[in-house]
Amino acid sequence: APYLIAAFFGSYLLGSVPFGLVITRLFGLGDIRKIGSGNIGATNVLRTGRKGLALATLICDSGKGALAVLLAALWGPDLALIAALGSVLGHLFPVWLKFKGGKGVATTLGVVLALSWQVGLVACLTWLVTALLFRISSLAALLAMLATPIAVWFLHGDLQMVELTALLALIVWARHHQNISRLLKGQEPRIGKK
Ligand code: G3P
Repeated sequence: APYLIAAFFGSYLLGSVPFGLVITRLFGLGDIRKIGSGNIGATNVLRTGRKGLALATLICDSGKGALAVLLAALWGPDLALIAALGSVLGHLFPVWLKFKGGKGVATTLGVVLALSWQVGLVACLTWLVTALLFRISSLAALLAMLATPIAVWFLHGDLQMVELTALLALIVWARHHQNISRLLKGQEPRIGKK
């Protein structure tokens, strides 16, 4: 149990680093939370028009999730799932931002890639194909999250991993409630536009 708690909180801390906010501040763009959707993620960083910074945010936010899982797995194989949950919750509820963080898409893709690169590939391809077809980041994220536990089931048949990825998908979906209502009204902005 102490190992589980340490892996959870260590991963929470790693996940709680708000790279979108840090990177845009470093480059003098002000507070990303006052731009576009107000989210701290790569999609919203892209709304500043700085593609490179959006890509950096995507890589860092995914990377921190993947790193948390890989470090935990080195320490003890059964710690990977708790680390995955910890890092995503860190991104969503960072203590540094009064617990108001991001939506968890990039971080979840990172943890999933680290848990299983095959499932990660399915999730990333689902995101990419949806994004290319519809040019809506949130829709791509919602479908990628839906695909993840299904891909885990078919590729690994590991019930614990299905449960964890289904939980992550639920959390990310809940976090997109405003996006979902905009999608239903046909008002969700396209990628690259304000
Ligand atoms: O990664 C979050 C994305 O799915 C939606 O972001 O800024 O359009 O709410 P945003």
